[in-house]
Amino acid sequence: NTRVWRVNTSEWESGLLNEAAMVLRNGGTVAFPTETVYGLGADARNDAAVARIFEAKGRPSDNPLIVHIANLEQLGELTLPYGETAKKLMERFWPGPLTLVLPVKPGAVSPRVTAGLDTLAVRMPDHPIALELIASSGCPIAGPSANRSGRPSPTHADHVQGDLDGRIDGIVDGGPAGVGLESTVVEIEGDAVRILRPGGITAEALREVSRHVIYDAESVPGEVLSRKALDEKGGTPRSPGMKYTHYAPKGLMQLVIGDADNVSAYIQGQANTAKSHGERAGILAFAEHGTRYEADDVVIVGSLAHPETAAQGLYAALRTFDERGTQRIWAEACPEEGIGHALMNRLVKAAGHRIVRV
Ligand code: TXA
Ligand code: MG
Repeated sequence: NTRVWRVNTSEWESGLLNEAAMVLRNGGTVAFPTETVYGLGADARNDAAVARIFEAKGRPSDNPLIVHIANLEQLGELTLPYGETAKKLMERFWPGPLTLVLPVKPGAVSPRVTAGLDTLAVRMPDHPIALELIASSGCPIAGPSANRSGRPSPTHADHVQGDLDGRIDGIVDGGPAGVGLESTVVEIEGDAVRILRPGGITAEALREVSRHVIYDAESVPGEVLSRKALDEKGGTPRSPGMKYTHYAPKGLMQLVIGDADNVSAYIQGQANTAKSHGERAGILAFAEHGTRYEADDVVIVGSLAHPETAAQGLYAALRTFDERGTQRIWAEACPEEGIGHALMNRLVKAAGHRIVRV
C-alpha cells in the first residue's frame, strides 16, 4: 500500500507529480529524491501528517525536522526577520545542500517539526523533482531523511522501499540522489556561521560568504561527544540530531586512521583474526587500495582522488554489509578536507565512535 511513482527527469512532463502532491496536500507522507539523499515529506503545518513521519521512521520526538521550500515566498510565512548573513547564504547556496537554522514564526508549523525549539531548520533543495513536488503541493514540506531511524540515509528509492514500505503513502522514484550525504546545517550568529552538521556545502565554500566559519564541537570527528559526555557536560546539543548514533551498520564497525600502509596492514590483520574466529569480515576501502585486501566482503566506497564519489557511495556501501550479514567491518579514513569532512563525520558515526589510530 505504498505507491511508487517512477519519474524520469530527462523525459519531464508537467503534471507527473500531481498525484504525489495531492497526497501531501491531504496530510499523507511521500518520500522524494533531493540532491543530497531521499527525504520523507509531509505538510509541515499539519500536526497529524508530521506525526506520521516520526511514527514511520521510529524517530525520537526531540529530534526536529528540516522544512523544505521551493521559493522564497514560502520562507516569509515560516520565519521571523533574519540578518544579512542569512540572506547572503541563501543567495549564494540556494537551491542547494545548505540548511539554515532561523527564528521560527510562532504557529507557522506543527510544534513537532521544531521539537519545541524557537528556531526552524529550512532549506531549498536543488533537485527538479523536489522543487516541483513542493511547489505543486503548495505546502512547506517537513522532510527528514527517508530511512528508519538508526539506518543509513537512503540514496536510492530502493533503500526507501526497504526501510519504509507499507509505513508511508508513497515514494517518488527519481533515480539516485546526488551528493549522497545530507545537507550542511548551519546556525548564524551575527556575521559568524556555525556548522552544526557538516554536509554537502563545505566549510571552504561557506568562507566565500563569511570570514567566521566555526565548527560546532559535536560536528568535528575528532571531538565527537558521546551521549554520555554530553549529559555530563549538561549540554543540550545545538543540533539535537547530532547526539544520536546514526547510520550504524548491523556489523561492528571500526574506523582506522593513519598512514595508508599502516592502515592496510592493520585492517588486513584484524580481518584475518576475525575470520579465524569464524566471523564474517568486511572492509570498506577506497578504490586506490581495493586490491590490497582479502576478506569476505571488500566494498569499495569510491575514490580517494575524487572524494565526492565516496560521498555518493557511502550509504549504499554500508547497506551492502547489512545485506551480506557482515559481522565485523573495518573502514579506511580519508583526509578531512572539502567533502572529506562530512564523509569522516558520517564514518565516525557509523563506527559508533570506535576509532583506532595506527
Ligand atoms: O540533506 C538533508 O538535509 C536531508 C534531505 C532529505 O533534505 N534531510 C535530513 O534530515 O538529513 P534529518 O532529519 O535526517 O536531519 C535533520 C538535522 C538533524 O540533525 C536535526 O537535529 C537538525 O537537522 N535540526 C533540525 N531542526 C533544527 C533546529 N531548529 N536547530 C538545530 N538543528 C536542527
Ligand atoms: Mg537523518
